[in-house]
Amino acid sequence: MKIMIVSNDAQTTIPKISSNRQIKVKPFDVQLISAELEKDYIDVLIIGHDIKYNNAQELFTIIKNDLRDITILWFAFKKNGEIPNRDFYQLNIYNKYIQIEKEDSTSMEALYTEVIETTISELSKEKINDFNKVDINIFCEHNYICANAYLKLSPSKIVKVINANELYNQEFVQKFVSKGVRYLYIKKDDYYAFSEFISGTVNAKYKTPKTSIVDDIKGELEGIIVLHDLIHNLNMDNATVKTLNEVIVSNIQTVKKYPHLKVIMEKFSLSNKKNYIYDHSLMLSYITNLMALKMSWATTATLQKLSMASILHDVALDNERLAQIGRLDEIDHKNFSWKEIDKLKKHPQEGYYLVEQIKDIPPDAATLVLHHHETSDGQGYPRGLDASQIPQICCLFIIAENLVNKLYCYDHKIDDEKIREIVQDFNYKYNRGNFKRPLEGFVKIIEDLK
Ligand SMILES: [Fe+2]
Ligand SMILES: [Fe+2]
Repeated sequence: MKIMIVSNDAQTTIPKISSNRQIKVKPFDVQLISAELEKDYIDVLIIGHDIKYNNAQELFTIIKNDLRDITILWFAFKKNGEIPNRDFYQLNIYNKYIQIEKEDSTSMEALYTEVIETTISELSKEKINDFNKVDINIFCEHNYICANAYLKLSPSKIVKVINANELYNQEFVQKFVSKGVRYLYIKKDDYYAFSEFISGTVNAKYKTPKTSIVDDIKGELEGIIVLHDLIHNLNMDNATVKTLNEVIVSNIQTVKKYPHLKVIMEKFSLSNKKNYIYDHSLMLSYITNLMALKMSWATTATLQKLSMASILHDVALDNERLAQIGRLDEIDHKNFSWKEIDKLKKHPQEGYYLVEQIKDIPPDAATLVLHHHETSDGQGYPRGLDASQIPQICCLFIIAENLVNKLYCYDHKIDDEKIREIVQDFNYKYNRGNFKRPLEGFVKIIEDLK
């Protein structure tokens, strides 16, 4: 825990306290302190009793404006009579204003020590496992949220970055995104209300008619991000299933409105890809539905199960590099830990168990998830089924996912040579067993890109 004392009193009480815990002592100098706070995450800032009220207020304002999650222990002589504003306590529940009766270095030292030790023990009770992680992309879709949000700095260190119900701007969140931050954290006690808030926003958006396909895609992508988050934190509760159904209905409507691969590809690139896991799940939903439409397999139940399986097939993964691996023999063992590889191996079954829990779903939806890494040559996983053992609808799903993977890195413009290469490769791999019929669906939709 990092502690800094602001004091001009370099001779008396404060240095004694600081030497016990290796606490930094800095004189009152706004620029110097701002630079220190920028350089290092400080947990507790102690304002010494020798700092004037206005100067102390100035330090508090800096911390408040920067939304820093620093606990402030503000010591002051009672004779001055001033007390902090209410927002001093609202900003951080551990903030304390300590009035000192008289100048007595022995009792003062004891007082400082007692307050510091009490605060440290209060803060250390707040542990990382009291929080749920939430994809940072969700925060990019809002300008306020109903709970405090935190940033994890280390396995045991977490700081508040967004205040509940206060407006924040997107640049602030984007700054974290650009530094590679993938998650913010919400306290477990706040998560249920937060989940209702985010799923409520998504559901409300689906009720508003969209004016363009780009808006449809954006809305559905946001829906998938929220859904994965709800599933990771709440599993398949009623609110999750409701949001899932809304996303599926929207997905199917979008494909029916724009039944062309070229249009979907073109607009998808415009709607800002976020993360392979969500993007390819959404593209997979469009492509499986398109193939089913072109093959006259498009009953409502078939479209629903293809869309549901697409959205959920990789929900058990949270690493986008892992999600891009099709076969276990493609894994570069240098780049992944044993735990990550184990997670990859298990994710089809984990997804299967999850989908199985949902009531009243079309049959086979869970099987699609279970078989999505089987391959036509029998070298897939988890079961190593061959082309005659994998059900036809699963073969469609497997071909579609392979296609998504090939198209993902392109924006809408793909040259004819690349398309020929894909067609040749797919004809070689999939012209066998139960893959033959879905291969025809693939040929029909790829025509569109020429
Ligand atoms: Fe996938
Ligand atoms: Fe997968």
